[in-house]
Amino acid sequence: MVTGTRVLVVDDERDHAEAMAEILERVGYEVTTATSGEEALELLDQEDFDIVITDLVMGEVSGIDVLKAARRAVPDVEVIVISARGGVEAAVEAMRQGAATFLEKPLNIEAVRQVVGRHARTQALSRRNLELERRLDERFGFQGIIGKSPAMQRIFELLRQIAPTNATVLITGESGTGKELIAKAIHHNSLRRNGPFVALNCAAVSEGVLESELFGHVKGAFTGAVRSREGKFEFASGGTLFLDEVGDTPLSIQSKLLRVIEEREIVRVGSNEPIRVDVRLLAATNQDLEKLVEEKAFREDLYFRLNVVSVHLPPLRERREDIPLIADATIRQLNEEYGKEIEGISAEALEILTGYSWPGNVRELKNAVESMHIVSRGPVLQVEDIPAKIRAAGRPAAGLPRLSGVSIQEMERELIRNTLRDVGGNRERAASLLGISERTLYRKIKAYELEE
Ligand SMILES: Nc1ncnc2c1ncn2[C@@H]1O[C@H](COP(=O)(O)OP(=O)(O)OP(=O)(O)O)[C@@H](O)[C@H]1O
Ligand SMILES: [Mg+2]
Repeated sequence: MVTGTRVLVVDDERDHAEAMAEILERVGYEVTTATSGEEALELLDQEDFDIVITDLVMGEVSGIDVLKAARRAVPDVEVIVISARGGVEAAVEAMRQGAATFLEKPLNIEAVRQVVGRHARTQALSRRNLELERRLDERFGFQGIIGKSPAMQRIFELLRQIAPTNATVLITGESGTGKELIAKAIHHNSLRRNGPFVALNCAAVSEGVLESELFGHVKGAFTGAVRSREGKFEFASGGTLFLDEVGDTPLSIQSKLLRVIEEREIVRVGSNEPIRVDVRLLAATNQDLEKLVEEKAFREDLYFRLNVVSVHLPPLRERREDIPLIADATIRQLNEEYGKEIEGISAEALEILTGYSWPGNVRELKNAVESMHIVSRGPVLQVEDIPAKIRAAGRPAAGLPRLSGVSIQEMERELIRNTLRDVGGNRERAASLLGISERTLYRKIKAYELEE
């Protein structure tokens, strides 16, 4: 039973409606009844209901009409349609319209109670998750992109500004920093969000294939072109085209890309006829495009055209405060996927994860957390669960405590003082243990004022 769940019961036989209402009220739901489809529509207009239980065959306004109106009013409403025995076609229609459940008369009270209970719980859970996601987004992120670091916050701010425009955006950053995620977020927050998002990896195919992938070809354009085909530019019309690994585009294709950007029209391979395209371009690369420009491997004019706005994603090791957040979000996501309830990560394990260099960035972090999630035996992920390679790299050198937050001078002074004390002031022994000459030790003793 989920408190505060509002149920609308619709049945043109008043006795049935009232009996049903009584059953549900007894277990604590807030129930309203309607004895005609018309009355139900009026109520749906005035109030929001979480669950609607409706008879299928009524007067002029049928259960299907009630169902549609309910969906319009509250998109995640649960609708249970009830019909007399044998109404297979009606059942199919109800399902097609998105009825959650179809029950046959005569009704079994226990079954009704169970179905309503299950719906109420699922609905409450998914609403809570949505709310959590929304709150997390508000505080730390943008469309599922997590980050509270100042660098990421600045990026979110920039995304809010540029997403609704038609500007070409160049997204740069090391592998696994979230370039594709950013591209999708830009599209989904743009005016083109209802149009297609089409991605093409410019590094994954050969020069010839890339040209036809981008611009399409006509029948007979080359051996094997048995029919004409649209390219990604045409596919993406009205939407966004994401050119991934754009730094790997061969020079011959670069000049064609430049022309498309300038003319806003493409020519299919093997054809002379230009076709107008309406596409917003986003591009990404983990290479240094400016360096490629200097080396004449990337056209400067194309670089300027792509780099109207640039979004640079810093490597994860330069925004370590995001590591616990991303790890946490990954755990929640995996809990849902695997039906396992991991509560979090132990402090020691988190310290290792936060200290690691993450050359594979967020992708590597998510993979590591997933592997920990799989092997863990308790509700909290532990140091032992961390993949060996990362654990080894994140551990302090053998026998030494993990130090951080003190200056090298402070450490050196402590080290010399303790060593001298341990060897009873014998400078020769102390110098040998410290691996420095006696002269150096003498100098340091003076500098740190360690003389007795
Ligand atoms: N800030 C973030 N918050 C949550 N998930 C992220 C974030 N950044 C990246 N990810 C996730 O990390 C993975 C890698 O991201 P993505 O594929 O966008 O990286 P990329 O920069 O395109 O990498 P590559 O250069 O290797 O193609 C994806 O699963 C993505 O969802
Ligand atoms: Mg990518």
